[in-house]
Amino acid sequence: MRIGVLTGGGDCPGLNAVIRAVVRKGAKEYGHEFVGFRDGWKGPLEGLTMPLSLETTRGILPRGGTILGSSRTNPFKIDGGVERIKENLEKSGIDALIAIGGEDTLGVATKLHALGVKVIGVPKTIDNDLNNTDYTFGFDTAVNIAVEAIDRLHTTAESHHRALIVEVMGRHAGWIALHAGLAGGASCILIPEQKFSVEKVCEWVESRFKSHYAPIIVIAEGAIPQDGDMVTKDQTLDSFGHVKLSGIGDWLAQEIESRTGKEARTSVLGHIQRGGTPSAFDRVLATRFGLQAITAAHEGDWGKMVALHGTNIVRVPLASATEKLKLVPLEFYKESEIFFG
Ligand code: F6P
Repeated sequence: MRIGVLTGGGDCPGLNAVIRAVVRKGAKEYGHEFVGFRDGWKGPLEGLTMPLSLETTRGILPRGGTILGSSRTNPFKIDGGVERIKENLEKSGIDALIAIGGEDTLGVATKLHALGVKVIGVPKTIDNDLNNTDYTFGFDTAVNIAVEAIDRLHTTAESHHRALIVEVMGRHAGWIALHAGLAGGASCILIPEQKFSVEKVCEWVESRFKSHYAPIIVIAEGAIPQDGDMVTKDQTLDSFGHVKLSGIGDWLAQEIESRTGKEARTSVLGHIQRGGTPSAFDRVLATRFGLQAITAAHEGDWGKMVALHGTNIVRVPLASATEKLKLVPLEFYKESEIFFG
């Protein structure tokens, strides 16, 4: 078979490990050929390809980002987009696609599969919010980066008697905030799943100062105050209808300063969380996903997504990945409140 591979959406540590595993097993064990599609769905849409072989995928395991490039192109928002994809696949002699991405990329893959394209999905997102997999690769790396930042910020918070806020990614799900906050010993963690009371946050800040420690607050970019709205950078939407988030940390710092009189500052981690080399956990998970994805393709098990269930890599219906978002269970969040304040 001749199999196309693409990576879509935000970049994520571990993408190259998936590509490497797919090509290594696919070429060596099954004798398949590969074509890399550039920049997510833009590749098959515009016929942008690059060679993918044992040679071109050597040395990429520890590299962050994706050698294929990525984009947030949505072919279903482009006139004749789906027909163009089908034509280009036929022109390049592609029998099937392996699509590596999050809810947007896999949402497109699901719709294309329903229209007759042979697809296997691989779940990626640092946000860990894809349904029907216990973890996505990229999440562990992002959490480790955030924890390192929190560890470093503790010293400034203590030395300057400041409240320090760390804003992390997480549009609808607070997985990064919760895991990084718990691992970094945050005095308060704020996630999109649970609207927060600024008054309560200020109480926790005051109580932390009383104990002669300085508070660190970890907040997800999509966290929402009880009497307010999500804070966005501007009102522009991408082709999947998402607004650009960021700013809730600065907003909260101003509220804390004006309500408690204590200095408060915010560090926004932004794309630093997605950059650089993947953790060992993510390299292994991404590699296992890649190996299972190419086996699924070899067996013609189309319309499936590879997933982690417990410690096993399994195949689940591709459509189930985007049925709903995997949010932080409130019991887990509530349990962590014992450490707040
Ligand atoms: O991939 C998901 C994500 O990490 C979200 O948490 C975040 O809101 C978004 O990407 C930002 O991505 P970009 O800056 O590339 O649009």
